[in-house]
Amino acid sequence: MVDKGIEKLIRRELAGFGGYAASKSPQTLEGKVDIPEEDIIKLDANENPYGCSPRVTHALADYTDINIYPDSWQIQLRHQLQGYIGVDMSHIVASAGSDQLIDLIMRLFLEPGDEVINCVPTFAMFRFFTDLCGGKVIEVKRDDNFTVDVAAVEKAITNKTKLIMLATPNNPTGTITPHGDILKILDTGVPVVVDEAYYEFTEETVAPLIGRYKNLMVLRTFSKWAGLAGLRVGYGMFPVKIADYLLRIKEPYCVNAAALVAVKESLEDVNYLMANVKTIIAERERLFSSLEAMEWLKPYPSQANFILCSVLRGSARELQQKLEERGILVRYFDQPLLEDSVRISIGRPEENDILVETLNELGEELYD
Ligand SMILES: Cc1ncc(COP(=O)(O)O)c(C=O)c1O
Repeated sequence: MVDKGIEKLIRRELAGFGGYAASKSPQTLEGKVDIPEEDIIKLDANENPYGCSPRVTHALADYTDINIYPDSWQIQLRHQLQGYIGVDMSHIVASAGSDQLIDLIMRLFLEPGDEVINCVPTFAMFRFFTDLCGGKVIEVKRDDNFTVDVAAVEKAITNKTKLIMLATPNNPTGTITPHGDILKILDTGVPVVVDEAYYEFTEETVAPLIGRYKNLMVLRTFSKWAGLAGLRVGYGMFPVKIADYLLRIKEPYCVNAAALVAVKESLEDVNYLMANVKTIIAERERLFSSLEAMEWLKPYPSQANFILCSVLRGSARELQQKLEERGILVRYFDQPLLEDSVRISIGRPEENDILVETLNELGEELYD
């Protein structure tokens, strides 16, 4: 066996699997940039610059049951979520980040060769998990303003289509898909995953349609509005039968004990967290105006906690690197439909000020 080489034994279709270009942690910059770790401004992963509720850190400091497995049926958690979203807990399943639910949904629906419709450009994990399952991504391009082309989605459906993935607001474009368009897509009868990771920044949701549409699944997360990205906790709303399947196929203890404590405390501190969300939204609009004033950048209006910008002069890669050298992390894209683009997460006011100042300096240095 060993003589043959262990690599020969892995699934052939995964041999060329590229993985996910994850965000950088500031520690990885040690020795590469001349800025102390604590001064790095991290605007590359749509994290919450205000962190979590102080109630979470206090409760975790006092938590003692770390030796006990968490409840696999997530009864208390699902009950708390029911109170927050107003959807019965029989529809709800939680997971280690909403990423894990994307994975579980794909595993539940896809057989090799099945098709998943993806409205591109969009969240890279949709393709990642489709590829992992041996599914086939069918890309339907958004228009120049990154609006979903509903007619093209309808046209792309074949008898192999198992899922339509729809992030709203969409990452990385920040675009909302209007309710009417989602309804048209639901009317196709194909299972539709509406990923509302940034729901709290828009408060637009199709959650009230859960139960009315047998093909609707809605995903949410605590990573963005509640600042719990590092604890990995998300949830979804599903038709009851699908929720039952997901509860059975998930890894039993996928939401860890610390995350359970954190959700409970966050949901008791919604006003505090939503005040931070409001500040982030106000900062987003302030940053948008500053970016718009730079003639070499074209920001796109966003309904989330980040702004996508086309870099009109020079390359996005070069800009990302120059910012990194100055201790500011942003995400850059250079792929079809996202040529020379950067995505900037909204930071605290003082971080956004440093970003704008640095961009103005770079604009003069690089492009004048
Ligand atoms: C559209 C979208 N869905 C899901 C996620 C994943 O969130 P989580 O941290 O809950 O896995 C993200 C994170 O960036 C996202 O942008």
